[in-house]
Amino acid sequence: MAGRRNPALLSALLFMAVLSASAFVEELDDSFMASKGSGEIWLIEFYAPWCLFCKKLDPVWHQIGSELTSSGSMVNVGKSDATVNTGLAKEFRVRTYPAILMLKNNVKYNYAGPRTKDGIMDFADRVSGPLVRVLSSLQLFQHAMRRHDIMFVYVGGTSELKGNFTSVAEELIVQLYFFSATRDVLPKGVSLASLPAVMVFKDGTYFTYNEEQDGDLNSWIKREQFPNFFEIDSYTLYAMGDSGKLVLLALLDVRRLCDKSLRYKSLVEKVALDHKDTYSRSFHFGFMRGGDYVNGLVMGEVSVPSVIVVNLSNDGFFVPTGAVETERHLLDFLDGVLDGSIQFQGGNGVVQRAKRIVYETRMTLTPLFTAAPWLGGFLVVFPLTAVAFFGYLFFKKTPTTVDDEDQVALLGPSLQQNDKKKDKKKD
Ligand SMILES: *[C@@H]1O[C@H](CO)[C@@H](O)[C@H](O)[C@H]1NC(C)=O
Ligand SMILES: *[C@@H]1O[C@H](CO)[C@@H](O)[C@H](O)[C@H]1NC(C)=O
Repeated sequence: MAGRRNPALLSALLFMAVLSASAFVEELDDSFMASKGSGEIWLIEFYAPWCLFCKKLDPVWHQIGSELTSSGSMVNVGKSDATVNTGLAKEFRVRTYPAILMLKNNVKYNYAGPRTKDGIMDFADRVSGPLVRVLSSLQLFQHAMRRHDIMFVYVGGTSELKGNFTSVAEELIVQLYFFSATRDVLPKGVSLASLPAVMVFKDGTYFTYNEEQDGDLNSWIKREQFPNFFEIDSYTLYAMGDSGKLVLLALLDVRRLCDKSLRYKSLVEKVALDHKDTYSRSFHFGFMRGGDYVNGLVMGEVSVPSVIVVNLSNDGFFVPTGAVETERHLLDFLDGVLDGSIQFQGGNGVVQRAKRIVYETRMTLTPLFTAAPWLGGFLVVFPLTAVAFFGYLFFKKTPTTVDDEDQVALLGPSLQQNDKKKDKKKD
């Protein structure tokens, strides 16, 4: 039947589509914790009606619900309006929207990666599976190596080290996979002085953890969880803050790389590779396309292409004083950062934090004013009140740490520092 579409039919179809999609995502209220089954695994999104990022996530969330259901996954998918179900939101310590969490064996796992279907499905897969995955054959081992750029593997039987490995996995399963194997399934050419051992496979090679040299297992794994040199996105950069290392970044053109971009990229890559032993304890190395995210971090305009060192523990940064043309220049820059002869800039002192509030308010409002001046004007009133309130909170605590208070932030667009950083990626 050709011709005009039937609007009634269309809306009926649409209605059914919405209905069937929502069947895969349960709306959860305050009674959830009491009514859920004890062995159930849940992936839950907390949202607020006014939250734009939540609205953007909605179709993705329904897709995730329908895919997990149709693939027979153990994971139940739910969502909850945190402004209504405040008891549940408090139980899950929801502080920003949308908040994505998993509940398994009464442990709550917080997702902080990109809000994409792939990112969230991968998180659901990691957390719902065993904490430590057993690689029982060489084939499985090789298959896992093909799938994962970074693999942490425990080798040996039951031991205290295995207990430590498992407790690290409990904390870091939100971002990493953990494996165990016996010695006989390791690929050819992998040698181990003694058992038990913890190894990391990455960058086409492997390292063995040594408690004496490397310190405690937890911080070693946090330090080693990234490849030697790779493209860093804002989520990864944010996660790197945990490792305590500085990050040397080549900032490159967004699209086609000009000669200067290519030179910076290969310089940083070469230093990462050739001087790994000297610098990898203090630095991560990588490149990023465009300067937007780093602009937010340094609250200014960085030039692109360029090289920069950022300290994610205190939002500080370092820029070279002269041109960086050769490997020697770059090494001198790194040495200068380490010995303090290069000027430290930014940071999260009181003045910097005040500056950040102003900067982020401005960055939030500018596009609004450009798009719809009257709406922008209207919206200014609310953020200003919020800023006054957040200013108070801001001076009380460090902006980059999320603390564990039993408190729910139900405030509007002036999101927390952390969320702001993550959201920048979307731009
Ligand atoms: C396990 O962790 C504890 C506490 O961090 C530490 O004292 C102990 O040496 C670790 N054991 C092994 C075998 O790594
Ligand atoms: C990076 O920040 C941390 C935390 O403030 C600080 O301890 C460390 O010294 C800083 N590193 C450099 C090289 O400035």
